[in-house]
Amino acid sequence: MRTAVLGRGWRQCCAILGLSLLYAGVASAQASADGLALAKSKTCLGCHQVEAKRVGPSFNSIAQRYAGQANAEQLLSAAIRQGGKGRWGAVPMPAQSQVSEQDAQRLAQWIISLRP
Ligand code: HEC
Repeated sequence: MRTAVLGRGWRQCCAILGLSLLYAGVASAQASADGLALAKSKTCLGCHQVEAKRVGPSFNSIAQRYAGQANAEQLLSAAIRQGGKGRWGAVPMPAQSQVSEQDAQRLAQWIISLRP
């Protein structure tokens, strides 16, 4: 009797845990697909790739460099809109002023989320 009740409790608990894990997985996969689509639509991928260096550094290596920096999101979203030079190499990044502040922030969040 007691074990039956316990058993049901466990099942419920696991079902809830399982569902929330599933949901978290789907949500983060969705967020990363959105980030990539946004980067594509803002023509970032003309110069950047997620994994490999192109004209600009890979988004993965940017994520790695700024990992753990408290103001990384602000820094990167400003860097996206204003461009920059000398932080990665000889080639400068032109200002991406066509990107709204909000989209720059979403792109920065997405890039930061790529860190392994
Ligand atoms: C014309 C090529 C080009 C385009 C288009 C471009 N980038 Fe860049 N990006 C670069 C280069 C080159 C660098 C390295 C600049 C440097 O050395 O400071 C860079 C650097 C960066 C950095 C790192 C900044 C830092 O301070 O470390 C981020 C973040 C970034 N780009 C995001 C983006 C996003 C998002 C877009 C699209 C809205 C974009 N870039 C479009 C060439 C480009």
